[in-house]
Amino acid sequence: MPRLIRTTLLAGAVAAALLTTACRREGDVYLGYPGGQQGPTLDAELNTLLQDQGMSAPTAPPADPAALVTLGQALFFDPVLSGNQNISCATCHHPLADTGDGLPVSIGEGGVGTATVRDRGVADAGHLIPRNAPPVFNLGLEGADVMFWDGRVSRDPVTGALTTPEPALNGLTPAAADIVALLDSALAAQAMFPVTSREEMRGQAGTSEIGDATTNLEIWSLLMARLVGTSNGTVGGFAGYRSMFQAAYPSVADFDDFNFGHAAKAIAAFERELWTSIDTPFDRYLRGDTEAMSGAAKRGAMLFYGDASCSQCHAGPLMSDFAHHAIASPQVGPGKLEASEDRGRALVTSDALDDYRFRTPLLRNVALTGPWLHSGAYVTLEGVVRHHLDCIGSLNGYDPSQLPPLFQPTVDSDGTRNAARAAAVDPSLATPIALTDAQVRDLVEFLHALTDPKMLILTRDLPDGVPSGLPIRD
Ligand code: HEC
Ligand code: HEC
Repeated sequence: MPRLIRTTLLAGAVAAALLTTACRREGDVYLGYPGGQQGPTLDAELNTLLQDQGMSAPTAPPADPAALVTLGQALFFDPVLSGNQNISCATCHHPLADTGDGLPVSIGEGGVGTATVRDRGVADAGHLIPRNAPPVFNLGLEGADVMFWDGRVSRDPVTGALTTPEPALNGLTPAAADIVALLDSALAAQAMFPVTSREEMRGQAGTSEIGDATTNLEIWSLLMARLVGTSNGTVGGFAGYRSMFQAAYPSVADFDDFNFGHAAKAIAAFERELWTSIDTPFDRYLRGDTEAMSGAAKRGAMLFYGDASCSQCHAGPLMSDFAHHAIASPQVGPGKLEASEDRGRALVTSDALDDYRFRTPLLRNVALTGPWLHSGAYVTLEGVVRHHLDCIGSLNGYDPSQLPPLFQPTVDSDGTRNAARAAAVDPSLATPIALTDAQVRDLVEFLHALTDPKMLILTRDLPDGVPSGLPIRD
């Protein structure tokens, strides 16, 4: 049998052409469905492929102190962090919706309800925010240094320097050094920002002191005043939060010494502790249990790491290269710019080469976390896989009727913008990849082997209540 072409090493149009040819090789053992290669030979081939690509199961992070995790859980679920005290992180990243909200794009501040029940019936398109709420699985692990669909928050793993939308946090000598000292992961840095977004949590001017603040630094200190009070905890705040912050940070002597970095670090600890998900069938397989995956999932893995070239971008232990790529995704929702436009990474870098590029998503539990892509355009896993196999054809033939009715009129069908999306597509995906239906089924089966059984029941992640006393289930 000819050795599988390491498509990861190839680039550009040449790669796409070769890839297409490679996939069409009739008689190739992996194309022989049914009755394709099985058993030990398949395992041997797959292991070679995985080893060649340096693929290994991620390692578990060190445990965080329980008091830090408890504080983070309270903050994650507490609407007190939002200007109008009406929305929490969990509204859009709910355990019962697999740490997302189950919607194509989220419904922001001012919307009604939590997660997937959020506004299903109410015509509330006015509160749609530009992007899909991504899942929070595995974002606290080593290597997860780039956050958001456009990577606007990142942390240099060597120097610890941050790049964020807030200049006071950035670089090696940040102005807000007291806050940055606490932001020991990109995930912690990310948690600083939902509270600064008017549409997500901050609310409009004239509706709260947070909405009226003039800088991010002011928002963060007003939030700490809400949580632990001022004048060393003697004016305002909640006794419940004072004791939680104290327990989580025993070395901080004075309540006035707490800053929002302490809150963000705790939120990240909660996210990492609860939503580290590295015990999927695929992880067990990587650790040597050859029985952990079905034959179909193994054949799917052969395609993923071989002829279908998925691991070119979904690379490494977390199945993301943490880089940005354009895959001609259909655009749903209000977009970031006028007329439903979202240029992705280019909005951060102002570089036209970054047009329509989005950070490669991590893939564990992906079968649970639809709808998929940065604007939630696909509601089936097969749909999003097939999109990759023919990005441009799939964009042009996109069927909005798969979306819930509220979102259908928000699909961008403008020919000029779609042509620009198609023109930007990554060279490795510009030429369709020919797979048989059986191969597509195998790929989807492999994606199902990325589901961690422990993550199927996330009710244990819900707190009984939060220190502010605000309702957490509405
Ligand atoms: C209104 C819904 C909403 C709320 C509330 C919200 N988020 Fe998000 N979250 C989103 C959306 C949408 C994105 C993607 C935005 C983007 O990439 O531009 C996101 C992105 C993220 C990411 C990055 C995921 C990744 O893969 O890079 C994390 C982590 C996260 N949110 C955590 C939080 C935390 C913590 C809070 C509370 C402090 C919060 N979110 C509040 C909707 C929300
Ligand atoms: C050129 C890089 C690249 C290649 C190759 C690639 N992907 Fe992707 N993939 C991405 C990017 C970027 C996104 C997100 C795009 C967006 O949101 O607009 C994505 C999204 C996905 C998603 C949805 C994840 C989510 O949370 O929304 C799945 C599933 C997926 N890819 C599977 C695959 C499979 C299977 C293959 C191989 C057939 C593949 N990818 C090949 C870059 C790539």
